[in-house]
Amino acid sequence: MADILLDIQELTKSYTNGGTETKVLHGIDFQVDRGSFSAIIGPSGSGKSTLLNLLGALDRPTGGRIIVDGSDIVTMNDRELAAFRNRKIGFVFQFHHLLPEFTAVENVMMPHWIASGKPAAKTRKKAEELVDLVGLGERGHFKASRLSGGQQQRIAIARSLMNDPSLVLADEPTGNLDSETTEQIFALMERIRSERQATFLIITHDRHIAARSERVVELIDGRVARIVANPAAAQEDSWLDLAPSHCLLAQQKPAASQ
Ligand SMILES: Nc1ncnc2c1ncn2[C@@H]1O[C@H](COP(=O)(O)OP(=O)(O)OP(=O)(O)O)[C@@H](O)[C@H]1O
Ligand SMILES: [Mg+2]
Repeated sequence: MADILLDIQELTKSYTNGGTETKVLHGIDFQVDRGSFSAIIGPSGSGKSTLLNLLGALDRPTGGRIIVDGSDIVTMNDRELAAFRNRKIGFVFQFHHLLPEFTAVENVMMPHWIASGKPAAKTRKKAEELVDLVGLGERGHFKASRLSGGQQQRIAIARSLMNDPSLVLADEPTGNLDSETTEQIFALMERIRSERQATFLIITHDRHIAARSERVVELIDGRVARIVANPAAAQEDSWLDLAPSHCLLAQQKPAASQ
């Protein structure tokens, strides 16, 4: 039987601005297995970041349930939610959000400082090990501002692992990187998943990354349009072609005459 880490039920989100309500998520249901690598795809504005922010407890839903490791985070108070976020969730953003004046290792230590309030020698050692894990051991003492975009993103991934999260959420982690660096970052995340039994849920516009994940959830207009399990085994074109509204897929689709 599959071990379900994340169970999303009838999740809705609306924003109210100046008395006008905008519904962004209209009832999302899906599950994520522990230790799996899933991708969320969908057109711009379909609600991908909104969903990820709810799952990472950065924002609160309007309705529904988000059950992580058996606990519904929607019913938690702010203090419980902050503790949940620190202990269970690792977040990787498209723009790495490193602190430029701090070194790579210090940036990786940051979530632990926030969670524990007291940086100890063993915290530093763990941060150094994570910097090693992402292949930047010799640059651990570099200030973040002296690292390349791809290196900074590696550090952001190392930072997301600092509190041994059950779930790593990444919002377009390779969105501003070239294709070779994208490939390296993806391979790194895959390796971390298998070595550390972490669970990854990533938003991507990159069809190759989506096709190589274990499960693809496609959002369209705030609804789950499709879930594709094991897309690499499925005929790639057949499942990607079903989504003409997806901006990148439309760009990359071969001409009909070819
Ligand atoms: N604070 C807010 N107030 C009102 N509407 C919002 C707010 N945040 C997001 N939205 C709306 O919610 C919808 C979904 O936005 P979201 O950022 O989740 O899309 P996305 O799928 O991540 O898009 P992209 O691929 O461009 O990042 C958009 O129409 C957006 O305008
Ligand atoms: Mg987004």
